[in-house]
Amino acid sequence: MKLWGGRFTKETNQLVHNFNSSISFDQKFYRQDIMGSIAHATMLAKQGIISEDEKKLIVDGLTNIMEDIENGTLEITGEYEDIHSFVESKLIERIGDTGKKLHTGRSRNDQVALDMKLYIRDEIETLDNLLKKLMLTLHRIMKENTETFMPGFTHLQKAQPVTLAHHMGAYFEMFKRDRQRLDDIKKRMNLSPLGSGALAGTTYPLDRNFCASLLGFDGPSLNSMDAVSDRDYLIELLSSLSTIMMHLSRFSEEIIIWNSNEYQFIDLDDAYSTGSSIMPQKKNPDIAELVRGKTGRVYGALISLLTTMKGLPLAYNKDMQEDKELTFDAIDTVKGCLALFDGMLSTMKFSKKVMEESASKGFINATDAADYLVNKGVPFRDAHSIIGRLVLTCIDKGLSLDQLPLEDYKAISPVFDNDIYEAISLTSCVNKRSTLGAPGKEAMEKVIALNEEYLLNN
Ligand code: ARG
Repeated sequence: MKLWGGRFTKETNQLVHNFNSSISFDQKFYRQDIMGSIAHATMLAKQGIISEDEKKLIVDGLTNIMEDIENGTLEITGEYEDIHSFVESKLIERIGDTGKKLHTGRSRNDQVALDMKLYIRDEIETLDNLLKKLMLTLHRIMKENTETFMPGFTHLQKAQPVTLAHHMGAYFEMFKRDRQRLDDIKKRMNLSPLGSGALAGTTYPLDRNFCASLLGFDGPSLNSMDAVSDRDYLIELLSSLSTIMMHLSRFSEEIIIWNSNEYQFIDLDDAYSTGSSIMPQKKNPDIAELVRGKTGRVYGALISLLTTMKGLPLAYNKDMQEDKELTFDAIDTVKGCLALFDGMLSTMKFSKKVMEESASKGFINATDAADYLVNKGVPFRDAHSIIGRLVLTCIDKGLSLDQLPLEDYKAISPVFDNDIYEAISLTSCVNKRSTLGAPGKEAMEKVIALNEEYLLNN
């Protein structure tokens, strides 16, 4: 079962085996391990290091192993140290001595670096698709809600009116950047470590370019010591995953607030909420809370790997085996959160009337009232103070700015006229905000068209 028994005279202590072994988790990339071995064997034959017949035997053997794992006839079991040992042992078991030639010019150090890169490349693809799906949902909500008014907040205090389209658009931008970050990682990491050996390359005449192109890399890595000990791309990935979770967590927080009895901006679908075992009236936003909660776990993975790497001398050290469980867990967590979040978002109902009513209370149009005066020649600082005093009058009388009679306006400044009401109506407050990126309908429609184009091309 061991690839390295030769210089040992004793059996490994069972606890040492358990502690050392990674097969319980690195079996996750059996497919990538086999694909890497097929490419390596193909290259060995092209270079005349093994014969064409030997290559065929090896490639067929590896293909069968992959099929058998996939159809459940071959079980990956714990007595092997790692997935690399498992596949190689099975190959030798199945095709005999020729199988022993597969590892020529290769070390598990470049092999594991390769497997992890191949695995991450595939997972980035899946993560990207999930992000895109979520963006498509946001895009649909945006198109349907360019005239759904709601309060915009700062300090969680009503600030200025926006629309639901505009609010969703903020998250559209965040997830767009998340996708760009993932894409950047893919570009930077896409160099093949195969051929780096244990740390110092190999004496066989390998064709590293050939292997790299067989496996879809942009080329081979340029320093064998770096190639076997580089985990930067995992740190970048965990950092990007942390940022995705931070975005999802902020969004979750808003959904939890919007779902509260006090706000009632949204109604979560029954299929995406849960109840209480004691309080019959409850309908809880557990999905949003769990997404918010799982954010800490993904941040933890990032800090954990950074800490693992910080003291490691070149080149490979076994510490690096610790990169796997936490990376796999972080990826699976983010994939789950993205899928669930999309389900929750695409099924929730927005209570447009409640949102709009909320936007028309709370003096959300006070800035616009000040701007009205500025347009009539009053300096902004004076206008600010005048409206401040009007707000006090409103609070006194229990009215909103829209409801305050013109006499009250005129009592504080003669500049006011009947057109104040039109100037501070919710519709004009929003639609006058027409700078690109603002919530006004026209500006919003330009952005929605750009988003449409983005989604078509990316
Ligand atoms: N399981 C190991 C890891 O995940 C594979 C590399 C083992 N290399 C070694 N020299 N022991 O890092």
